[in-house]
Amino acid sequence: MEIRPVRIKDIEGVRDLEISCVREYFAATLENRWEDLPQDWKDNLGASSRNHFKAYLDSGLSLVAEEDGEIVGFIFAQMLHHICDEDNLLWIENMGVHPYFRRNMIGYKLLRECVRLGREKGATVAHAMIQPDNAPSILLYKKLGFFMDRREVALLDLRDPALRI
Ligand SMILES: CC(C)(COP(=O)(O)OP(=O)(O)OC[C@H]1O[C@@H](n2cnc3c(N)ncnc32)[C@H](O)[C@@H]1OP(=O)(O)O)[C@@H](O)C(=O)NCCC(=O)NCCS
Repeated sequence: MEIRPVRIKDIEGVRDLEISCVREYFAATLENRWEDLPQDWKDNLGASSRNHFKAYLDSGLSLVAEEDGEIVGFIFAQMLHHICDEDNLLWIENMGVHPYFRRNMIGYKLLRECVRLGREKGATVAHAMIQPDNAPSILLYKKLGFFMDRREVALLDLRDPALRI
């Protein structure tokens, strides 16, 4: 198993894997069946989507795990600047490992290498957003030394036509 930077040629494999992971961890919360959700919404989901992939490719901080030519794991990250009092903050957007290959330390190696690269490129802190009920992910991040504080994210959808501003 090799951990290496994501490349353009990985797009199909990494897209399939990211979408299957997104479907998996949203399965419990999505009210609609996946098949019934709007196609343009699904097409824009995830860091591997058409609108976002290039930014994560160019960041030099996104990695895949490859086994026998197949993508079995991924992590998408980029550097954010002047945020949370930091000049350089490593933002981890998403990660996942193919169910068949889980509990083999692939997620751990992807995260560790991403953090190592981020620090090498000048990041002083790393952030990731994790669903509070995603125990495997929380435990993985904690194993590497991440901690969860009491902050919660306040969200506002600026595309909402009902927005009164
Ligand atoms: C979270 C995820 C990436 C972990 O990948 P993985 O390769 O199976 O994880 P690892 O084998 O590297 O596990 C490292 C550590 O994480 C924790 N961990 C991972 N999966 C766990 C699980 N199912 N239950 C409990 N602890 C778990 C453990 O502390 C583990 O160390 P240990 O094996 O010594 O106990 C994987 O479960 C996944 O892809 N989930 C679906 C997508 C997802 O939720 N992504 C995260 C979005 S924020």
